[in-house]
Amino acid sequence: TPTAIIRNFCIIAHIDHGKSTLADQFLLKTGTISERDIKAQTLDSMDLERSRGITIRMHPVTVYYTLNGTRYELNLIDTPGHVDFNYEVSRSLAACEGAILLVDAFQGVQAQTVANAFLAMDGGLKILPTLNKIDLPHARPDFVIGEMEQALMVDPEDVLRVSGKAGIGIEDMLAAIVERVPPPPGDPTAPVKALIYNSHFDTYKGVVVYIRMMDGLLKPGQRVKLMRTGREYVITEMGQFRPEMQKCDELSAGQVGFFTANIKNIENVNIGDTVTDAANPTAEPLAGYKEPKPMVYSGLFPVNNNEFEDLREALGKLKLNDSSFTFQPEVSDGLGFGFRCGFLGMLHREIIQQRLEQDSNLNLVQTAPNVSFEIKKRDGEIVTVHGPQEVPDAGLIDEFREPIVRISFLIPAGNIGTLMGMCTERRGTFVRTEYLSQQRVILVYEMPLAEVIYDLYDKLKSVTHGYGTMDYEILGFKSADLVKMDILVHGQKVDALSVIVHRTSAERRGRLILKKLREEIDRHLFEVSLQAAIGARVVARENIAAMRKNVTAKCYGGDITRKRKLWAKQAEGKKRMKQIGQVEVPQEAFLAVLESE
Ligand code: GTP
Repeated sequence: TPTAIIRNFCIIAHIDHGKSTLADQFLLKTGTISERDIKAQTLDSMDLERSRGITIRMHPVTVYYTLNGTRYELNLIDTPGHVDFNYEVSRSLAACEGAILLVDAFQGVQAQTVANAFLAMDGGLKILPTLNKIDLPHARPDFVIGEMEQALMVDPEDVLRVSGKAGIGIEDMLAAIVERVPPPPGDPTAPVKALIYNSHFDTYKGVVVYIRMMDGLLKPGQRVKLMRTGREYVITEMGQFRPEMQKCDELSAGQVGFFTANIKNIENVNIGDTVTDAANPTAEPLAGYKEPKPMVYSGLFPVNNNEFEDLREALGKLKLNDSSFTFQPEVSDGLGFGFRCGFLGMLHREIIQQRLEQDSNLNLVQTAPNVSFEIKKRDGEIVTVHGPQEVPDAGLIDEFREPIVRISFLIPAGNIGTLMGMCTERRGTFVRTEYLSQQRVILVYEMPLAEVIYDLYDKLKSVTHGYGTMDYEILGFKSADLVKMDILVHGQKVDALSVIVHRTSAERRGRLILKKLREEIDRHLFEVSLQAAIGARVVARENIAAMRKNVTAKCYGGDITRKRKLWAKQAEGKKRMKQIGQVEVPQEAFLAVLESE
């Protein structure tokens, strides 16, 4: 068959299990890139990914490898390793016939490894179980292979042993890819059918569309149609990632690459959509398209209201490369004009915030995140709300619904009691446990997403001393007894501090938020009152006593450096202050609603 020399595969791995290092080895061992260049240019090309050391976007690469006299074309499609980007994982899996299931020979199987491995198996991918980091002196290959057998139904005989860092077992790995991963199906003479599995925006070329050819042949000059939107474009350039973009004359069934077509707006290119020939379209688009929906929202406000337009521009730029991120203008009594932004999850939110700060010089205040809710009104209308400000009056609400997730933890067996307690406290419903070995267990719960984004990840890490991992999927919306709680600073309602809480925990949350506010807001010349209220009913109150003396007076005598430090710190803090009536409120205070016990 014409695709016999092609192999398309991805690497499934938990964060830090060595995916990027292994990918670098493929580039090196196949002579695609030299040792000297590898340091400067690896698959993790975004600065932010580098600084955080995690893969966020997929970076594909095509390498050529000769085995027994045949030259094979291997396409590696990298997958992100974080729950926020699960949708992208599933898209990249759909572009492959095989998956390297990479597990750290010391750390063993983790929650995301399990979740993604099952996604790959469900997708019919050939799994290549692989033990990485076998060079580690404290590696425990037999123990970890036991876990892989238990959790992932892996045959120990099939497990490859490699070290990406030391370059051990890479040749065997490449040979195994050729031998075990089936060549892609596909008919080069059939009407064009290609999967869009990713995209990015290039200032000069417009949107670069990442495709996996399923059927047919594409060439520059060809008129294509994106089936979901019906939009048509003429291909200007096609190519492969090696790993930089390299032009080619055509892409045929089974191949992986990109095209550009002067597409100005990334929102016109939907990941998961099907590309076909405009004149000779394929009968059926590819199945399984799902719109990635932002699930976590928070407000973003410029400290100086005259920077509103600059902020809009900066957000627009970010959106050029990330269509899953959304923003809409929002007005807050306390914070003025800003935007309500939607993110896939908490990591996505953090990434966007960091990029905004890196790319623009704006001083921003970010409000605490919340999930999106569904509200059924008395008049039967169902509305989706993205923040407390959008919640209709209590009297108009018939039913309040919140997103529910199925969450899996992979934890040391000794922590199971503590974790079950944490889940119950967070309105979780027990689903099941499964022992991987005597030491480690999978714990599955269903619980509100709101309870997950609140502080669960940090709690899990601290309870398990870093050994626990988690993964979740959204199940849908479910009715709950939720209320909007307002916070008043010196008698003024600060809508950016409002939260949506479960009625039974309102009082406790209210007290916590006020306590945190009391710590964050500096003393003023007058006493500042703080209140938490549901409608007109005050459920908690605190006061910040009036200021007595100058803060710097605390520094003794001539210690000027210490004074300078204090002033510098105050000046720094000032950058993120917001005036609420007569009261100055620092950025940290707006995150007070996130505070837990
Ligand atoms: P994400 O991008 O976050 O998913 O991480 P990753 O899976 O790409 O991991 P990466 O390749 O960045 O490696 C993580 C850490 O493990 C780095 O400090 C590597 O140096 C180290 N590492 C990777 N492979 C090996 C290996 O084979 N042996 C040893 N000893 N360390 C390794």
